[in-house]
Amino acid sequence: MVEIAIMGHGVVGSGVANIITSHKQKLYSAVGEEIHLKKILDLREFPDLPYADKFTKDFDDILNDVEIRVVAEVMGGIHPAYEYTKKLLLAGKSVVTSNKELVAAKGAELLQIAKENNLNFLFEASVGGGIPIIRPINQCLVANNVMEIAGILNGTTNFILTKMIEDGMDFDAALKLAQDLGFAERNPEADVEGYDAVRKICILASLTFGKHVYPDNIHTEGITKITLEDVKFATKFDSVIKLIGDVKQLDDGKLDIFVAPMLIKKSSQLANIDNEFNGIMVRGDCTDDVVFYGKGAGSMPTASAVVADIVDCVKHLKRRKFLFWVDGSNENVLPYEQSKAAMYVRVEASAGDELKKIFGSDIKTVSNGANIAAITPVMTVKEFEEKTKDLKLLSKIRVGDL
Ligand code: HSE
Repeated sequence: MVEIAIMGHGVVGSGVANIITSHKQKLYSAVGEEIHLKKILDLREFPDLPYADKFTKDFDDILNDVEIRVVAEVMGGIHPAYEYTKKLLLAGKSVVTSNKELVAAKGAELLQIAKENNLNFLFEASVGGGIPIIRPINQCLVANNVMEIAGILNGTTNFILTKMIEDGMDFDAALKLAQDLGFAERNPEADVEGYDAVRKICILASLTFGKHVYPDNIHTEGITKITLEDVKFATKFDSVIKLIGDVKQLDDGKLDIFVAPMLIKKSSQLANIDNEFNGIMVRGDCTDDVVFYGKGAGSMPTASAVVADIVDCVKHLKRRKFLFWVDGSNENVLPYEQSKAAMYVRVEASAGDELKKIFGSDIKTVSNGANIAAITPVMTVKEFEEKTKDLKLLSKIRVGDL
């Protein structure tokens, strides 16, 4: 029997406790011995739960329990999750986490501590919820030079965009529904402003290219400026608007990495990924496009990935899984103004002539009477900003070739 503990009994933690207790036989078959939940850390009380006796409010009860070999950190946020994780690794316990904020900020350091102590620090649930993506990139696709990863990485914003497009629901009502369903972050600004998605694309970039990419200086746009007009105009360009996290390695080795809403063609494999579902496309030089699709948020899908990591740790109690990247400085990140893209633009109808003067008379435009929209040729963000500095833009959205 292997003893484990869970830190946090929120949306994900309660799902982990549920799976560990309800899937005992399935997990026994996978591991060959029982995975036994010994303690749960939470400041709240849950007297009505069948496992109410396992709760503690004292982190030291887990840290100092030598029988506990694996701990699931599902508290969220950096503090005290970082301090706790570090102490647990230094005390000889493997740690698994769904905490993308922690991995994006401290991944290189925690992986190094795990390595020095011959332990595992695993985080399959930190990107894509229930979708397997960390292991596939690290193992199944490892023979490829990855050319690009592009993904719908945030369930809440995808849910909101879907409800706006399909049901004409307004932004606030759709966000409230996503919160009620347990998809949104404690502070939903992290979802709608793109901070959650940028953490996830940074984790994928760090894993794929081997050096930590920190989210702080990565260009990040959310969906708060997306209007129903833009959603309708996108249709006229045979496209949909999705919030995309994207990373490409350029010929000089630099990473072109950002999070932004994008117009993508309806024929793209990412275009029909709706509601809280996530989709991640990995472009390998051997495989071409491989797409991963599934529920990117919610209690049980995310807990499924956390429990898979627990199983992996239990199977490798005395061996490390090779999952590693070194610290990085972001010097290998392309400044966003040098990133190249075509742009969708929307202006007042009266600015239509000006638009044609800037981008050429043969630019394809569409009109709804009041506004005109167009897609510019591909150029750097800096060139685009210079060309349009005197134009009154109502909207500008990147166009993705995905
Ligand atoms: N708030 C996140 C989302 C949860 O909506 O995708 C899963 O990381």
